[in-house]
Amino acid sequence: MTNELIINKPDDMHLHLREGELLSFVLKDTVRQFARAIIMPNLKVPVTTVDLARRYFEEINGHGYDFQPLMTLYLTDRLSKEEIRKAKESKLIHGVKLYPAGVTTNSQEGIASVDSCFKIFEEMEKNNLPLLIHGEVNDHLVDIFDREKIFIEKYLIKICQNFPSLRVVFEHISTKDAVDFVIESSKNVAATITPQHAMLSRNDLLSGGIKPHNYCLPILKREKHQKAILQAAISGNPKFFLGSDSAPHLTSQKQSACGCAGVYSARTAIELYADIFDKNNALDKLANFSNKFGADFYSLPHNESKIKLIKSNYVIPNELLFKDDKITPFLAGQTIHWQFSEISQ
Ligand code: NCD
Ligand code: ZN
Repeated sequence: MTNELIINKPDDMHLHLREGELLSFVLKDTVRQFARAIIMPNLKVPVTTVDLARRYFEEINGHGYDFQPLMTLYLTDRLSKEEIRKAKESKLIHGVKLYPAGVTTNSQEGIASVDSCFKIFEEMEKNNLPLLIHGEVNDHLVDIFDREKIFIEKYLIKICQNFPSLRVVFEHISTKDAVDFVIESSKNVAATITPQHAMLSRNDLLSGGIKPHNYCLPILKREKHQKAILQAAISGNPKFFLGSDSAPHLTSQKQSACGCAGVYSARTAIELYADIFDKNNALDKLANFSNKFGADFYSLPHNESKIKLIKSNYVIPNELLFKDDKITPFLAGQTIHWQFSEISQ
C-alpha cells in the first residue's frame, strides 16, 4: 500500500480566481498546490482583450507567488482577428474561452450564435491558439440535464469538423456522451475533469435535501455519467486532464433562493484527486493526469519542482471566513484521505 507519493507539481487547467479581495483570499490555496493554472476570464467585466488580460495577469502576479497564471480571452462577437494575432504574439494568452450567452456565472456577454464565430475559429486555427468551450446550450426548451449532449450534437461536431487543426478543450465534462465524443475525436480534442464530476452524481445534489454547495454547471448528472467521467480520468488517456473548475462564491450567495453555480475546491484540489485515484486503484495515473497531459496539450514544458502527498485523514473545514461572510469549501466537514505536503526543493 502506498502511503506517500511524490510527483511533479501539478497544473490546474481550469480555474476561477475572481479579482480584488476574493482573488487574494483564494489564490493562496491554488499556489500552494499548483505551479500554473489556466485562468478563466469570466470576471464581472469580462477579459475580452489582450490589454485586459495583461492587467489581470499583473493583478495575479502582484501577489508575488511562485506561480504562473496562464491567461485566456473571453470570446465575444466583438473579438477581432487582429486581437487573436495579438494574443498569440503576446505569449501571455493560452486560449480563448467560449461561453454560450447566459449559460453560467458572468456569461451574459458570451456568444449568441456559434456559427458567427467561424471567422475567429479560422484565425485561431491558423495561429494555433486553443479554443476552450463551456459545452452546454443555453436554451430554456432543453432540459438542463441534456444541455451538454445537445451542445455536442448541435455545435461541437460542426466546430471540430470545420476546423480539424484547431485545438479544442471541452471543459468540465459531465456526461458519458462527452467522454465518448472526446475519445472518438482527433488528438486535437481534449477535456478537463473536475473532482465533483468524477465523484458525485445528481443524487448528491438533490436526494435527501438540496445541497447547494454541490451545485455547479454543468449540473451533476446521473450515476452512469459520473462513472464514465471517473473512468476517463483514471484511464491514462492523455486527452483527459486536471481542471478543477474551482469557482468561489460567498456562502450567502450559494445558500439563497437563487443560489450561484460553482464549487470551491481549490483548498484541497490535488488531495481530492489523490483520493479519487487511490479509491480506484489508479494512484499511478495521478501524475500524468495532473502535471503532464495538460501541459503537453497546451505545449508547455513540464514542471520540475515536486510536491508530496501523504496518506492521512483530513477533515475539510466547514467554512472559511472571508470578510463578514464565508466561503464553504467543497465537501465541507467530510474526511479525505490524502494530504498535501511541501517539499523543500
Ligand atoms: C463557474 C463560475 O462560478 O464562474 N461556475 C460553475 O458552476 N462552474 C463558471 C463555469 O465554469 O461554468
Ligand atoms: Zn469554470
